[in-house]
Amino acid sequence: MKLSTRLKSGKSWLEQASPNTGLDRNTYNSIKSMVHFRLVEQLDLSTITNMQRDALAFSVRESLEAITAAEKVPLNHRERAILISDLINEILGLGPIESLVNDPDIQDILINGPDQVYIEKSGILKNTAIQFRDADHLMQIIDKIVSSVGRRIDESSPMVDARLPDGSRVNVIIPPLALNGPVISIRKFRETPLSEDDLIDSLALTSEMLSFLKAVVHTKLNILISGGTGSGKTTLLNVLSNYIPASERIITIEDSAELQLVQPHVVRLESRPPNIEGKGGITLTDLVKNSLRMRPDRIIVGEARGAEVMDMLQAMNTGHPGSMSTIHANSPSDALSRMEVMSSMGTSFFSERALRGLLASAINIIVQLARLPDGKRRVISISEIHGMKGDDIIVRPVFIFSQKGVDDDGRIYGSFTGIAEEPFFLEHIRTHGMELDSSIFSLDKEVC
Ligand SMILES: Nc1ncnc2c1ncn2[C@@H]1O[C@H](COP(=O)(O)OP(=O)(O)OP(=O)(O)O)[C@@H](O)[C@H]1O
Ligand SMILES: [Mg+2]
Repeated sequence: MKLSTRLKSGKSWLEQASPNTGLDRNTYNSIKSMVHFRLVEQLDLSTITNMQRDALAFSVRESLEAITAAEKVPLNHRERAILISDLINEILGLGPIESLVNDPDIQDILINGPDQVYIEKSGILKNTAIQFRDADHLMQIIDKIVSSVGRRIDESSPMVDARLPDGSRVNVIIPPLALNGPVISIRKFRETPLSEDDLIDSLALTSEMLSFLKAVVHTKLNILISGGTGSGKTTLLNVLSNYIPASERIITIEDSAELQLVQPHVVRLESRPPNIEGKGGITLTDLVKNSLRMRPDRIIVGEARGAEVMDMLQAMNTGHPGSMSTIHANSPSDALSRMEVMSSMGTSFFSERALRGLLASAINIIVQLARLPDGKRRVISISEIHGMKGDDIIVRPVFIFSQKGVDDDGRIYGSFTGIAEEPFFLEHIRTHGMELDSSIFSLDKEVC
C-alpha cells in the first residue's frame, strides 16, 4: 500500500502500520527498512555500535525527517518517537524484544518463530502483539546474541545456550529441529536476586519453614531442591546458599552460572559445551570431580542433570556435607527416582539397592516447589529422609502446603502445616549448636 493511500484513510500511518497497534505490519516495516537503509548509507557502520544512544537517535531522526518530507508524511511527536526508538533498538539492541528485555517485571521471554512472542509476568504466561519481520529478521537477532558469546548457530549446530550482556539465560534452537521457525527462550536475570523476605512476602513459604531450612544449611545437612520448570528452584537455592557461614569455602558448579552468592569465599565453575568439531566440552561430571581437588567445604551443583549425580552423591557422603543441588521433578519420590536413574548413568558397579542406599544416606532434606496455576511459586513440602525400609527410601514430610480451593479471582488458597512432631534431624541440628523452637513444627497457617 502506498503512503499516500494510507493517508487518505484518516488514521495516522503509524496507527495503521505499527506492529504495536497490530495494523498493517508490512507497511510499517517498509518505512522502517527505508529509514534503516538510508541510515546505513549515511553512517559509518564500524562506528555505529559505539555510538551513544543520543547521537544515534539524532541521526535516525534526521534520516526519518528526510524520508517523511520526501514522502510528505506528517508525523506527530509520539509517532516519531516510536519509530526512532524501534530503529535504535534494532541497531543497538535486540530489535522487537529490546523493550521486553529491559522490563524488570518480565521474567521469561519465549519466542516461537517470527510471529509469536510470549512473556511471563507474575508467574502467568501471556501472548504479546510483538512480531518479527520474518524468520530472517529473527535469525539476525539470534546471530547477535550467540556471536556476542563467541558461539555460532547454523544447521550443523542448531542448538545453543548463551547469555545476554545483563546475565539473562538464553536457549536457542532453530530449524530443522524447531518446526515453527527459530525459537528463543530467555530467563531474565534479576540484578537483585529475591531475598528471604521476598520469599516470605510472596507466601512461597513461612518464616517457620525458613528457620528450619536455615538450621539445616547451617548444620551441614545435604539438601535437594525439587520442582518443575520455572518453579523457583534456583531462586530458593540462592537464598539457602546465603545461610552458609562466611568462613566456609564454597564451590558452585553450573551449566549456566545463575547463582549470586554473597559470601566472600566462593569459587564459581561453569561447564562448557563441545565446539563445532565436538571437542573441548567440559561436563558437570568433570567439574564435580575437579572440585573435589579444590578443598571445598561445600559443593553446590546448580542443577543435577546426569552422570555427575554419582560423583555428587559420593562427595555428599564422604567429607563434603552441606552440599546442595536442584532437580526437575514433581514430587520428592519422583526426585529420588530421577536421582537413582541419573546416578546409574555414572556407574555400572552399583546394584539398584546399593544406589538407593547411597541416595538415602547422601540426601537428608528434599524441598519440593511448584508453580501453581495462579502463577505463585510455593514450597509444597519440606521432607526429611531417614534411611531405608526394605528396598524403599523413607521420606517423611516436616512441613506441607495443602490446597483448599480457588477464590473468585482465581487465587489458590490453602494452608502450610507442620507435622507437629519433632523431625528426625532436630537432634542433629541441636547437637550442632543451632537452637530451634519445637513449636515451629506445629505450624498451621492459612494463605491465599
Ligand atoms: N517466590 C517467588 N516469588 C516471585 N517470583 C519468584 C519466586 N521464586 C522464583 N520467582 C521467579 O520465577 C522465575 C523462575 O525462578 P527460577 O529461575 O528460580 O526457577 P527454576 O525452577 O530454577 O527454573 P528452571 O527450571 O528454568 O531452572 C524467576 O524469574 C524468579 O525470579
Ligand atoms: Mg533453575
